[in-house]
Amino acid sequence: MKRLAIGASIAVAALAVSFSAQADEEAELVVNEELEISTKAAAPKGSALDELLSGWRFRTDETQALQMDDFDNPSFIFVEQAEDLWTKVDGTEGKSCASCHEDVAKFKGLRTQLPRYDEEAGKVYTMENYINECRTERMGAEAWGWSKVKMTAMTALISVQSRGMPVHVKTDGKAAPTYELGKELYYTRVGQLDMSCANCHEDNYGNMIRADHLSQGHINGFPTYRLKNSKLNSVQGRFKGCMKNIRATPYKVGGAEFTALELYVASRGNGLAVESPSVRN
Ligand code: HEC
Ligand code: HEC
Repeated sequence: MKRLAIGASIAVAALAVSFSAQADEEAELVVNEELEISTKAAAPKGSALDELLSGWRFRTDETQALQMDDFDNPSFIFVEQAEDLWTKVDGTEGKSCASCHEDVAKFKGLRTQLPRYDEEAGKVYTMENYINECRTERMGAEAWGWSKVKMTAMTALISVQSRGMPVHVKTDGKAAPTYELGKELYYTRVGQLDMSCANCHEDNYGNMIRADHLSQGHINGFPTYRLKNSKLNSVQGRFKGCMKNIRATPYKVGGAEFTALELYVASRGNGLAVESPSVRN
């Protein structure tokens, strides 16, 4: 395995985590001994990648194992909290999510389509945008913080309904300009280390960056429980972390740049199965 020549100043997340043997590259993901989830997929047309590989494949055996059983996957503590939030009345309108949406199982498939262009809003919406619009416009409740525990718990509960289904976000039509912006940002070098997302996740996946095994940087497993911070992490929270690691000033979480980047990164994983909520180091 090659080592990535990179400034020693990078504070890569995994530094604090003791490192054990590399995962078996041919391991297969079966959840709860019954749900087989393919962690590889053919690359979409025009992809810069030869083959799509889920981030799960790059984790150690121990971390992989945590995602193979919902009792071991710490994300499910939060999924359970979200089940309570689902039926909890909140805000001036006296409504809960369940008042209008009934069973959360109705959101099966939604994770595979997001982010997507929303006609009414006239822009690309992430799952967080939809949830907060319901809270502020329909419930008369406060918006939830983008990467805070209630929001990430709810995105986990909604996303797990689509577990195993292939990601297929739309990048054409009215989503196209946002997709193009996301693509441009993905290849733009930023920060003191003058690196782009592609420099790590396209040019160097499979290599070690200090103690961490670089993946293709897909978001099919989000929100993801990280052992590093013992909580669920939003997609854009992760982007922020990667930008900080290259000593760049992160874009605003929930802002136009990160939303564009989220759409673009999601589309790079079109065809991969939804693994949410996943476990990472
Ligand atoms: C007063 C009724 C109402 C309440 C309460 C409500 N929603 Fe909604 N929600 C809607 C409507 C209407 C839409 C837009 C139409 C649609 O796509 O179903 C929507 C859309 C959504 C979407 C996008 C669905 C899609 O298929 O595009 C999500 C996700 C969502 N709501 C989550 C929530 C969550 C989580 C809560 C509780 C925090 C909640 N909603 C509370 C009425 C409500
Ligand atoms: C200096 C190298 C580096 C750069 C540049 C970088 N990342 Fe990362 N990124 C990492 C490392 C290391 C990890 C943790 C291991 C892994 O999954 O690759 C990671 C993880 C991720 C993950 C989580 C993958 C998963 O399966 O959980 C996503 C998503 C991601 N990065 C997106 C981005 C985006 C978007 C950019 C550009 C804004 C970016 N990264 C820039 C090093 C980098």
